[in-house]
Amino acid sequence: MSDDTFKKITSHAKEYGFIFPSSEIYDGLSAVYDYGPNGVLLKNNIKTYWWKAMVQLHENIVGLDAAILMHPAVWKASGHVDAFHDPLIDNKDSKKRYRADNLVEDHIAKIQAKINKEIKKARKRFGNDFDEEKFLNESPRVLKYREQIERIEQKLNKALSNNDLQALKQLILDLEIADPVSGSRNWTDVKQFNLMFETRMGAVSDSSSEIYLRPETAQGIFVNFNNVLKTSRTKIPFGIAQIGKAFRNEIVARQFIFRMREFEQMEMQFFIRPGTEKEWFSYWKETRMKWHLSLGFDKEMYRYHDHEQLAHYADAATDIEFKFPFGFKELEGIHSRTDFDLKSHEAHSGKKLRYFDPETRETYVPYVIETSIGLDRMFLAVLSAAYTEETLSDGSVRTVLKIPAVLAPVKVAVLPLVKKDGLPEIARKIFDDLKWNYMTAYDEKDAIGRRYRRQDAIGTPYAVTVDHQTRSDGTVTLRYRDSMHQERIRIEDLKKELDAKLDLKTWLG
Ligand code: GAP
Repeated sequence: MSDDTFKKITSHAKEYGFIFPSSEIYDGLSAVYDYGPNGVLLKNNIKTYWWKAMVQLHENIVGLDAAILMHPAVWKASGHVDAFHDPLIDNKDSKKRYRADNLVEDHIAKIQAKINKEIKKARKRFGNDFDEEKFLNESPRVLKYREQIERIEQKLNKALSNNDLQALKQLILDLEIADPVSGSRNWTDVKQFNLMFETRMGAVSDSSSEIYLRPETAQGIFVNFNNVLKTSRTKIPFGIAQIGKAFRNEIVARQFIFRMREFEQMEMQFFIRPGTEKEWFSYWKETRMKWHLSLGFDKEMYRYHDHEQLAHYADAATDIEFKFPFGFKELEGIHSRTDFDLKSHEAHSGKKLRYFDPETRETYVPYVIETSIGLDRMFLAVLSAAYTEETLSDGSVRTVLKIPAVLAPVKVAVLPLVKKDGLPEIARKIFDDLKWNYMTAYDEKDAIGRRYRRQDAIGTPYAVTVDHQTRSDGTVTLRYRDSMHQERIRIEDLKKELDAKLDLKTWLG
């Protein structure tokens, strides 16, 4: 998928009421977005699909909705005050600010693009005989590029894991990386920049009232560990799930809703007996991948990426990456967080955060496996995988969002073929009946073809059309968005048919 397609997706999202820039009448606020009438429906449906899969379908997972504002000591204990930063570099000429590691990654991407170009040329030259694997391992030019990438990645990882800002700057200088805007190589030193937003609480403005907007929802779960344990009949292994806003003052916010400064996370902390972390880590890796695949997008769109460089709290981590229009990127993280958080909160709060295991008769600080997915990122994944332009047999192009029916903002549209002959009255009756169960649209304006296109563009999977035959035999046509196939169905069977197609068990069972 090209840059051009990504641009089309972002403008489609705006044109059809999915996503608007925040405060647009004031020229927007960088990396902050609002969800429009269709956007909020899709977003809520993604939330529900996640919540039901995690909480409703797991007997041993309960929910929580913790406040965004928390005691500032939470962020000291969690390590975010001391370690939640990104390396920042400024260009002295353009005055532009960058993430130093991103500059190096972009340089690597350029070398990768050269490899891709070589592959394309060779494929053209060798036609059907082309063996990509062999070419990648034998072409001297490709081997040279691959070696370059490997060397740079090694240096980058070493500098980042040693927190060696000097080495990071040296790498940028050695690679002769220029400011993408001005072409200047006049760089400042690399500094660490903490990503947490600070604000003040109450009327007294001394430093004791300084608090943070939470950069992850997870800490709300950790500090409620005892409360949940005491008030729900949970026994280890058990999980606590939460959906909520998180805030990060990202240095560079790029790629639409992929990296935002205000976003939503869907996180689950799974508390386990120490020593069982490896098996539960594999369980959640697999279970979360199954959830993604249940939506029916091509499985080639997903891959795992095991982390070499670990966050300050983790002893193992994997990303589920998704093939966004700009390449494979992290969609969800699965982290083995050990007992880092609970132990650290014990130390900072002086309160015990332990579990008495009736089976082993031991008391311990549980280990934690976390699954953490960005709701907005999931929204972007759905939107970009669903966006399709199709050339029809008459040569016209239809733009259709092939959103999985279970997530679609509007499930069914009811359309009278014409605005007369009693058809609107019948259609209204069907609409009034279906709206109790599904988000349903009623539309009688314009020719039927245009109305179908409008529903295709927002991803409505089913359309019910009332025509003249309806009056004589009580049947309507049911049109399928993706195939555009239509079949006749009795009005009284509509609900049963839609129930079967949209039932959660059909998707997650
Ligand atoms: N509690 C662990 C945690 O927060 P993370 O890898 O920093 O881990 C988890 O974030 C997920 O949150 C990511 O996989 C991504 O989907 C989403 N996310 C993180 N930063 C984001 C941002 N600036 N904008 C949108 N989504 C973001």
